[in-house]
Amino acid sequence: MPFRKIYAVVAAAALLCVADKAICQVNTVDVRVNALLAKMTLEEKIGQLNQYNGNWEATGPVSQVGDKIAAVKAGRVGAVLNIMGTEHVKAFQDAAMQSRLKIPLLFGQDVIHGYSITFPIPLAQAASWDMEAIERAERVAAIESAASGINWTFSPMVDIARDPRWGRVMEGAGEDPFLGSKIAVARVKGFQGKGLGSPDAIMACAKHFVAYGAAIGGRDYNSVDMSLHSLWETYLPPFYAAQQAGVATFMNSFNDLNGIPASGSSYLQRDILKGKWNFKGFVVSDWGSIGEMVSHGYVKDNYEAAAVAIQAGSDMDMESGSYIGHLKQLVTDKKVDVRLIDDAVRRILRKKFELGLFENPYRFIDAKREQTLLYTPENLAVAREVARKSIVLLKNDQHLLPVTSGKSIGLIGPLVKAKRELKGFWSLNVNLGEDIPSLMDGLHAQLPDAPLLYAPGCGITDSSRAGFEEAVAVARKSDVVIMAMGEAPDMTGEAKSRSSIHLPGIQEELIKAIVATGKPVVLVLMAGRPMVFDWASEHVPTIVYAWWLGSQGGYAMADVLLGKYNPSAKLPMTFPRSEGQIPIYYNHYSTGRPPASDTDRFYKSAYTDLLNSPRYAFGHGLSYTSFAYSDLKWERTGKENIKVSFQVKNTGDYAGEETSQLYIHNIVSRPLRPVKELKGFKKVFLQPGETKAVTIVFTKEELCSYNEKLEKVVLPVACQIMIGSASDDIRLQTATINNIFSEPL
Ligand code: GLC
Repeated sequence: MPFRKIYAVVAAAALLCVADKAICQVNTVDVRVNALLAKMTLEEKIGQLNQYNGNWEATGPVSQVGDKIAAVKAGRVGAVLNIMGTEHVKAFQDAAMQSRLKIPLLFGQDVIHGYSITFPIPLAQAASWDMEAIERAERVAAIESAASGINWTFSPMVDIARDPRWGRVMEGAGEDPFLGSKIAVARVKGFQGKGLGSPDAIMACAKHFVAYGAAIGGRDYNSVDMSLHSLWETYLPPFYAAQQAGVATFMNSFNDLNGIPASGSSYLQRDILKGKWNFKGFVVSDWGSIGEMVSHGYVKDNYEAAAVAIQAGSDMDMESGSYIGHLKQLVTDKKVDVRLIDDAVRRILRKKFELGLFENPYRFIDAKREQTLLYTPENLAVAREVARKSIVLLKNDQHLLPVTSGKSIGLIGPLVKAKRELKGFWSLNVNLGEDIPSLMDGLHAQLPDAPLLYAPGCGITDSSRAGFEEAVAVARKSDVVIMAMGEAPDMTGEAKSRSSIHLPGIQEELIKAIVATGKPVVLVLMAGRPMVFDWASEHVPTIVYAWWLGSQGGYAMADVLLGKYNPSAKLPMTFPRSEGQIPIYYNHYSTGRPPASDTDRFYKSAYTDLLNSPRYAFGHGLSYTSFAYSDLKWERTGKENIKVSFQVKNTGDYAGEETSQLYIHNIVSRPLRPVKELKGFKKVFLQPGETKAVTIVFTKEELCSYNEKLEKVVLPVACQIMIGSASDDIRLQTATINNIFSEPL
């Protein structure tokens, strides 16, 4: 666009300013975007929609495109991913600066739970129910990433998941839309900080849009088939929360939803995201997902895939080569309107301007910052704190924990010395020399003089009992045995669905052999998913779930086991008794024949061969102390809010933090509502004997659900407010409330 035209646009805007202050916020970014767009050739526009993998590990099947640097110089690339370190990032940005219009590249990376410092896996962090802690973790990740050339993370993954066979449960926030929405907001705020343009703010990316976690059978990439009611009620809310929090980008998902691949769904990307929700950022495809519409059988070739995807609102093509290979021809063939391409380009350029990349394409590429801001002691301390908060105490019969000093401790199991494993899936090899403290290291550090006896006993997956004898001997010599068992870290993550989620190998046999010695056993389980460990749940008195805790894992585990930190975490996902129970989740409908007890099967919705309850319920997590609840009150404050208050008392001997949970028990609702829905939670720290008043407020909008027309207007006809320490541990409840927002006070 010639300068005089730009001047006219700006002058017109100025005149409008005089007319109406509200328009004074003329978005100069949009003016700059349009000015640049006007200079771009069609090839250069299409280049901005093209993303290639860089030179780090591939996180999907790599397209063979030859010299990527040359492609960047030719203006055929708008973003890259998996480039590690400022030196490599600079090489690619240098190439972009040699292109005709010098449009800077975006550099994306899966910063899923930390960059140089690895934090607990997201599902573990979700167990903290601590939004400040989660935001702090992502803030550290953003600071480290931005110092290393990364300006875009493909995180947070906000997929609701109710099937622990799916390996990617490790990457999300569990089964609940309310908790998942709060965590989505915390993660977006952590990554984007004070807003794009700040030196340590990176673009966040809400993924995978949408319902990827509902893959049939928990089998990754499998089809998803669900009612739109379930989609709106359960799977969309965390994405909406991320969008409301200002997330810069979305990533679509591999799965087909009700017969349409997400990459080709106008309903999802245009009607809902860019239409109803008015999303102004851009949508990147998941790795190759545009081209995979051929494998889905939705299109016959990549030419058709490119047309369908751009029309459906997929703005950027990650690694399928469909856009760069076919969009120009599609425009020539009048199969695609260039205005669709212009819209996608605008969305991408807008983010590059907001990031400040046009002012300084190298603002994220500063080797000095990379050397000084990564892996700092204060940020390692944040990682240790978040890890402690993520550890769930599942049971503590006989109060074996915390282990008191002076006892001889036997350490048994294949994960006692696990170090690198503690990083879990989606961790980055940035700090190759990193010495990650194992559980044994953590105990040694705090008990330098304690006689720690050790035997691995068995491997994670092998079937050899050769180590049992040594392990039993260690147990016999110990006052207390700590067993560290679980999965391998690559048993969860992408393409890691398992048909059996039992403890792998013969680990359960080893547990039986050690329990048979009669010694007190503390079982520490590490995994990226809820596992099934039924025999241990029945026969081991104390069980701790330590997930994959990251760079400070061993120290955090020792802090909890030795009582330096009183565990406070709560499960963000239901633990089934068997794979046969899956899917099992707390916020289910009643059915017409709800079992009246755990063993009620007589013409009831139950299995004849299994108890009805899960092994451990959503929201479950114990403490070294105990808490009593009293004095529940509720009132409507104004037209839109309900304020609930109650007292919590620490009735034990340890100071500790309780996560009080507020559930709505839906008694009558049309359409049906889940029997219970989380609508609030509050963490409260109490000294022994201390009592505090707790207040939780929820809104009418939060209480609404969808009618048959998918309007969010339905309120429960009759309900109760419940306060609990877990979804299956309700401590207080109101009488039945009829028409909660209309009943006279
Ligand atoms: C992967 C994942 C996605 C990730 C992307 C880039 O296949 O599905 O979550 O962000 O590719 O690595």
